[in-house]
Amino acid sequence: MIPPPAQWLRPASLVAAIVIVTLGHFLTPLNRQIQHDVLVRLYYLPIVLGGLWYGLRGGLGTAGLITLVYLPHVLVVEHGIMTIGYLLEIPILIAVGLLVGLMVDRQEHYRRGLEIQTETLAQSHRELQEQTRLLLEKETQLRRADRLSALGQLSAGLAHEIRNPLGSIKGAVEILQDDYPPGHPKAEFYAILLKEVERLNDVLTNFLSFARPVTPRFAPVDVREILTALEGLISGQARAHRVQIFLSFHVGPSRVMADEMLLKQAFLNIMLNGVEAIPEGGDLAISTRLRPESTAGGRPEWVEVVFDDTGPGIPEEDQGRIFDPFFTTKKDGTGLGLAITHRIIENHHGTIRVMSQRGKGTTFVVALPLEGAIGL
Ligand SMILES: Nc1ncnc2c1ncn2[C@@H]1O[C@H](COP(=O)(O)OP(=O)(O)O)[C@@H](O)[C@H]1O
Ligand SMILES: [Mg+2]
Repeated sequence: MIPPPAQWLRPASLVAAIVIVTLGHFLTPLNRQIQHDVLVRLYYLPIVLGGLWYGLRGGLGTAGLITLVYLPHVLVVEHGIMTIGYLLEIPILIAVGLLVGLMVDRQEHYRRGLEIQTETLAQSHRELQEQTRLLLEKETQLRRADRLSALGQLSAGLAHEIRNPLGSIKGAVEILQDDYPPGHPKAEFYAILLKEVERLNDVLTNFLSFARPVTPRFAPVDVREILTALEGLISGQARAHRVQIFLSFHVGPSRVMADEMLLKQAFLNIMLNGVEAIPEGGDLAISTRLRPESTAGGRPEWVEVVFDDTGPGIPEEDQGRIFDPFFTTKKDGTGLGLAITHRIIENHHGTIRVMSQRGKGTTFVVALPLEGAIGL
């Protein structure tokens, strides 16, 4: 194989320079002393170039080669009195090769040192950036956890205070309701009363699930089965909002270690939000897939559930807050659905992320480690 030009051009030009100057020596008549003086100095050119291009190796190598070809000329050809002078030129040639080579090698050494330092610095910079990102993430989590625990304590106390009178109110309303047969104008108000009492009770139940979060009981469950069951559960509500639900599942493993009740709750919150976000008809597509890039030894480790709705989307400034407890944009929302979901998914060693474009819709992606994946 012919090496690229840059690789042989330099050594070839060094050899050519030495050959030309040496030929000059042999071909110039001995009495042209000035020409010989000039010629011997021309040897410095390849030596300096050799040193510059190849460091100490190049400088000394070129000087050695020149000594080899020049020495016979000095010794064999009769230079008379000048022989000593020409002989003395040889150590100087070698010294120049040595010096230039040493200097270039040293410079190269410094350059490499600098390069390594720059790389180390860049690496530290990257690490620092990553640490800062993690720190900010942790801070957000802490803030959320802080609010969750404050909420937990508060609601534990409140729930007990409110639940008992609520029970009495409900009982009393049910008794009073008997006085008015269905169709009586006042019966409607009792119905409203009962409905509102039940709604309050639901809110309390939600709060309580924060106050005393259940310890998850893990068992292998199939996410596809859970999603199919949930679709049936919300189909009525979806119809009311004229939302079409599409399910599409991947082929392959889809069992995760999970607490079925909790996982259902987590998925349900996301699905209900999707349905509620679509006021006048639209689609909610729910699909599963194996995360392709994370294959350990060819085996996928994560299953992802994608909830894709054609609702109005979430404004960018809200996207960082939707998982915070109490963040809601709904008139009668609690702002707890996604906070609960987030906590459940975290307890399942999973992740949840949201992508949304205003006017285009919202996508939630929940990733869960498959049963038997590393670490589980
Ligand atoms: N699919 C969605 N499309 C648009 N907005 C959403 C969606 N899911 C969640 N949100 C926003 O996130 C907020 C918080 O949701 P959530 O925690 O479930 O509380 P809530 O449903 O009680 O408001 C919602 O009020 C809404 O603004
Ligand atoms: Mg909700």
